[in-house]
Order: sequence, then C-alpha cells, then structure tokens
Amino acid sequence: MTSSVELIGSVGDLPRHEVERLMMSATGRSRTEVIVGVDLSDEQRARFAAAVRRRRTGEPLQYIEGSVPFGEVVLSVDPRVLVPRPETEQLFELAVALLADRSPELIVDLCTGSGALAIALARAFPRATVHATELSADAADVASVNAAANDAVVAVHVGDLFAPLPSEIRGAVDLLVANPPYVATSEFAGLPAEVREHEPAMALIAGDDGTEIIRRIGAEAPRWLRPGGIVICEIGETQAAAAAAAFGDGEAEVRDDLAGRPRFVVWRHTPAGRVDSRS
Ligand SMILES: C[S@@+](CC[C@H](N)C(=O)[O-])C[C@H]1O[C@@H](n2cnc3c(N)ncnc32)[C@H](O)[C@@H]1O
Repeated sequence: MTSSVELIGSVGDLPRHEVERLMMSATGRSRTEVIVGVDLSDEQRARFAAAVRRRRTGEPLQYIEGSVPFGEVVLSVDPRVLVPRPETEQLFELAVALLADRSPELIVDLCTGSGALAIALARAFPRATVHATELSADAADVASVNAAANDAVVAVHVGDLFAPLPSEIRGAVDLLVANPPYVATSEFAGLPAEVREHEPAMALIAGDDGTEIIRRIGAEAPRWLRPGGIVICEIGETQAAAAAAAFGDGEAEVRDDLAGRPRFVVWRHTPAGRVDSRS
C-alpha cells in the first residue's frame, strides 16, 4: 500500500496546498487525514495521478475537484461553466444586505452560468420566485442540476439576457442580479492561461470594450423592474463610469470589492412621478 503522505511529497512541481486538495478529492478524505497519512487503494492512486496530470495542464483546480462552495451552497462545476469567483460571492452578500429589510418576491439572475447567484438567492429568500437566464444550453443544464442538488427552486431559461423571461414578470422584478461577461476582446489574450484555455470564452468576452452586455442590461432593466426594484451588476474595475451611465432614470451607485476596486453597480429604479410603497 502507498500512503497519501508519500504521494503528496512526490509531486514537487505543483503548490503543496493544491496537491493536498487533489489528494482530498481523489480519496474523499479530510486534509488532516491525507497529511497525517492514509493508505491508498489502486483506484485512489490512479485517481490522484489523473488529477495531477490534469492540473499540470493548467486546468482549474475546481474543475478537477468538480465542485466549489458559494455562500451557503455547493455547486458542481465543469468546463461548461465559469468557476464562480469570490467577488461574485460578494455580490450575493451585497444583495442579501440590501434586501434584508424587505422580502423580495421576484428575483432574476441574468447570465447564470453554474446558477451560483440564483441558487444562493433562492436559498436566502425562500419565499421569492427566482428566474435565471443563460445563453449556453450546456451551462443552463449545469445550473438546473445545481439547483436541484441544493434544494433550490429556480426556473432556468435558455436564451439571450431578458428574452426568455416570462412576459408576465415585466415591471414586477424586485431584484435583478447579473455577473455578465465583461472582458474586452482585446484583453482576452492577456488573461491567465488557466482562464483563457479552460473556461468558456462566451462567459468572459463582451465586445470591444467589454461593456456590451452591461450596456444592454442597463438599457432593458427599467422595463423589468418594479419601481423601487434594485439591479446589482458585477463589472470590470475600469468600467464603473460606463456601467453606471448604462442605466436610465434612477439612482446608480458603484460599490467596491474587498480589495477596494470598483466592481459592482447598484441601480435603484426610481422612475419620476412613481410612488413606491414597498421600498
Ligand atoms: C461571467 S459568467 C457568470 C456565470 C455565473 N453567473 C457566475 O457568476 O459564476 C457569464 C455567463 O453569461 C453567459 N452569457 C453570455 N452571454 C449571454 C447572453 N447574451 N445572455 C445570457 N447569458 C449569457 C455565459 O454563457 C456565462 O455562463
């Protein structure tokens, strides 16, 4: 029998913490167990060797592990979807903080990918109806599976931004969130190889300056939100001015991420002459 300690020590070309995670994933054991030492079956050794080979090609650790925690939920991830990022978890926390004193009835997540925001919000606001849209049918499948696995009721629609949403929710949405693609075409080549070569390009690229999808969301959001409703959209750190200007009548505000970079536009729908009794 080979011990986990021996095999972890034999992989010198990858960061130690990653090798430990690959061993945990291959064996289903805790970090403490694998660093103290567990005997490995032939199957576990083969799984570990395959995982190390994949990581050496630059494949994201989360695809190899097959899942990632996001807020209170755990999401399956694979190359059909972007790996949810910590900034997006911050968007979720911001949404919960901003909506804490009301009970949103209708939530929409555009560009849902793995379903991260929609599922976490459905769990945080169990009385809300949650719709999610996604252009990639493959990614939408991942979101649907993740919703079921997390006991979250999310209606996942395949299509372009707002197009697949049911028309009856127009003008009634309390909270609209989005982490859309926001990388400029010219910036794509400069992304780390791990991202560029393994994550879906359609999750990242959005036209010449990266704001194409954000601007489309800004233009159409007022038609879907109820008066007083809120949009929270993740943006690139150089896009604050363009993103804030993308929305119409209402109050736009830019919020920073934990590193102090302007990464979220919060927009409140306050159409002139409309009184909102719920906000
Ligand atoms: C940056 S990823 C975000 C995924 C997920 N919301 C997250 O935060 O991890 C953007 C997602 O938008 C999808 N997408 C791109 N263009 C879209 C469009 N026009 N309409 C709907 N979804 C789109 C991509 O397929 C991708 O899954």
